[in-house]
Amino acid sequence: MRISIIGGGNLGSALIQGLLQTKGWKPTDILICDLAKSKISSLKRKFKIRTTNKIEDTLNFSSILILAVKPKDMEGLLSKLRVSKRKLFITVAAGIPTRFLEKRLGKIPVIRVMPNICVAVGEGVCAYSSGRYTHPSDEKQFLSLFARLGEVIKMKESFLNMVTAISGSGPAYIFRIIEILAELLEKDGLSKKMATLIASQTVFGSAKMAKELGENPESLRVKVTSPGGTTEAALKVLEKGGLEEIFSRAIKSARKRAGELSGKHSAKHVIANEVKQSQ
Ligand SMILES: NC(=O)c1ccc[n+]([C@@H]2O[C@H](COP(=O)([O-])OP(=O)(O)OC[C@H]3O[C@@H](n4cnc5c(N)ncnc54)[C@H](OP(=O)(O)O)[C@@H]3O)[C@@H](O)[C@H]2O)c1
Repeated sequence: MRISIIGGGNLGSALIQGLLQTKGWKPTDILICDLAKSKISSLKRKFKIRTTNKIEDTLNFSSILILAVKPKDMEGLLSKLRVSKRKLFITVAAGIPTRFLEKRLGKIPVIRVMPNICVAVGEGVCAYSSGRYTHPSDEKQFLSLFARLGEVIKMKESFLNMVTAISGSGPAYIFRIIEILAELLEKDGLSKKMATLIASQTVFGSAKMAKELGENPESLRVKVTSPGGTTEAALKVLEKGGLEEIFSRAIKSARKRAGELSGKHSAKHVIANEVKQSQ
C-alpha cells in the first residue's frame, strides 16, 4: 500500500514514524508533501521517505491521502486539490467536519480521524468517523493503516470534538504531569534522566494496568492508597486543591475551542459565507 501525507509537521511526522515501525512498510511507500523545503529535507534525512512540495504529486502517487495540515490551512489546501480519480481522503484536522471536505472535493470518500501523537510509538488513540460517500472497502483500507498505530474506535462524528479534548490533546496534559513529577525529583537531587525515567515509567505502568487488568481505575487507586499512608496524604492535597475541578475546566475549554473550529468550518457556515460573498 502507498500513502501520501500532506503536512509534515508534528502529527505528519508521528504518523510516518509509527508506520515505519510496523511490518510491511517501506519508506518508499510514503510520500510526504510540505511547503517548507527545510522540513522536507529533514524528513527525508530522518525517515528516507519520498518527499515533494507539489500537491499534484500526492494525487499521482497513491489512492490514499492523509491531510495533516492545521485547520486554518485546510481551506487553502483543498482549493489546490484537483481530484479526477476516486481517492480516499483521511483528515486529521481538529474540528473540520467531513462535510467540509465533501463540499470542496465532491462525492469522494472521506474519513475524519482524531489520532494523537502517541501513534509515533504505535500506542495512539484514533477515534474516527466516515463521510457520506465512504464505502466499506475504504474503511477497510483505513483500518489496515491505522490499526497499526494503536487503538482505533469508530464513533458518531458529533462525538469527535469531545474526544479531541481528551485523547487528541491528552498527551500534552500527561507530558505536563511527567514534567512536574520529574522536576520535583530533580529538585531532590536526582539527574534529569533518572527523574524522567521514574516519572514516565510510573505513568506508563499505571496506564498499562488500567488498560490491561480489566479492573476499574478507582479500585486500582484504592489498592495503592493505604488508610493513613503517604499516598492518601498526597491525594487529599490534590483533591482539596481542586484536581477534578481544574481538569473539568480545562477539558471544557478545549471542547469549546474544538466547537469554535468546527462551527467555523461547518457546511452551514461555509454556505452562509459564500452566499454573503456572492451578494
Ligand atoms: N499535533 C498533535 O498532537 C495532533 C493531534 C491530533 C490531530 N492533530 C491535527 O493534525 C494537524 C496537523 O497538526 P500539527 O501539530 O502536525 O501541525 P504542524 O506541526 O503545524 O504541521 C502542519 C504542516 O503542514 C504544512 N502545511 C500547511 N499548509 C500546507 C499545504 N497547503 N501543503 C503542504 N503542507 C502544508 C505546514 O507548513 P508551515 O509550517 O510552513 O505552515 C506544517 O509543516 C492539525 O489539523 C491538527 O488539528 C494534531
